[in-house]
Amino acid sequence: MKALVALILLVQLPILKAVPAAPPAPLGCDDPESEAAAEVAVSYINGHSHHGYKFALNRIENIRVLPQGPNNDIIFLELDLLETKCHILSPTPLANCTVRSFTEHAVEGDCDVKLQKLDGKLSVLASKCHSHADSSEDVVRLCPDCPLLARLNNTEVLTTVTAALSAHNSKTTDAYLRLLEIGRANIQYHPVHTVFVEFAVAATNCSAAEAKDNAEACQLLPDDQSNFGFCTASEAIRPLQDLQVNCQLYGHQPGVTYSKGQGISAGLQPSVVQGHTNHNLRLSHNNPVASESSSSEFPSSILAAKSVAKRAIAEVAQHDKVPHPVGFVPPPPPCPGKIRHFKI
Ligand SMILES: *[C@@H]1O[C@H](CO)[C@@H](O)[C@H](O)[C@H]1NC(C)=O
Ligand SMILES: *[C@@H]1O[C@H](CO)[C@@H](O)[C@H](O)[C@H]1NC(C)=O
Ligand SMILES: *[C@@H]1O[C@H](CO)[C@@H](O)[C@H](O)[C@H]1NC(C)=O
Repeated sequence: MKALVALILLVQLPILKAVPAAPPAPLGCDDPESEAAAEVAVSYINGHSHHGYKFALNRIENIRVLPQGPNNDIIFLELDLLETKCHILSPTPLANCTVRSFTEHAVEGDCDVKLQKLDGKLSVLASKCHSHADSSEDVVRLCPDCPLLARLNNTEVLTTVTAALSAHNSKTTDAYLRLLEIGRANIQYHPVHTVFVEFAVAATNCSAAEAKDNAEACQLLPDDQSNFGFCTASEAIRPLQDLQVNCQLYGHQPGVTYSKGQGISAGLQPSVVQGHTNHNLRLSHNNPVASESSSSEFPSSILAAKSVAKRAIAEVAQHDKVPHPVGFVPPPPPCPGKIRHFKI
């Protein structure tokens, strides 16, 4: 009998040893490793957007790490972004771009990003995004007179953009500017009916004086000399009329090009995008492989990762019910992470 027990123990021992160590705790959304991945993802998203504004990180919604081998992980990130005031053509680094405030009628971006971390180096494999303006009801509730986003093909918006650009071109001694795209437009009705517009422009090969004779002949500068810029303007319509415009050229930026692409015509011609209030990130980021749910590559490990995360949350919840010694701070749930700006 003793010998049998010993034999069983002997047989079991190596089996017990072979049981793998408990999987590492899932990454929390606010862990430095998650933030590093999000930074690479946001920079990729802005680098691959062609219209509208740069977006900044507001919150890491979720992160999943699927180990592929030693020093090789696939990372799925879900990110909440917010529109900044920097146009996508602006040379201002994202860190210096102000996030658009809630009262300016914020635009949110939702992105799924698939990255690979190979020997510590992160690279983006795919991204899928869409962006949408906050609901008007949300803005009005907090700020009844705030100017709300208007459609980019709104007649008042087009009139203000045209008036602002010609006012600038008639005053400037510099290059004659052409419109690339309207970035956003807000209309306020009280106490003064005012139209606020922002639009991207580019220098042509004409000075404003040369353009007076024949503006049609003025062409956008070729890529190796391109000079993009940005204008903001406001036009009060009632009770008094007043037009303010401010344009700034960024100077030539080697390698930066503006692509009309995807049927979006420059200038004031009607186009797909102009029926909307904001440029949709989806036009530049639409790869379903980027989202974990539609990727069927590793279904079982995803399920395992999900149940580990669920268990962790359940344990935290369980923990909360038992009385804690004074000063005990329960650990935050691993995801979603903290909100950096504001929630919409
Ligand atoms: C960005 O901000 C940093 C720190 O405030 C400042 O030193 C730097 O000059 C800014 N860069 C630009 C391009 O505005
Ligand atoms: C701008 O370029 C167009 C096309 O190349 C040319 O016809 C026009 O004369 C140029 N204008 C000036 C002022 O150089
Ligand atoms: C703007 O575009 C939308 C759809 O894209 C259309 O329904 C609407 O009539 C357009 N508005 C104007 C003023 O052209």
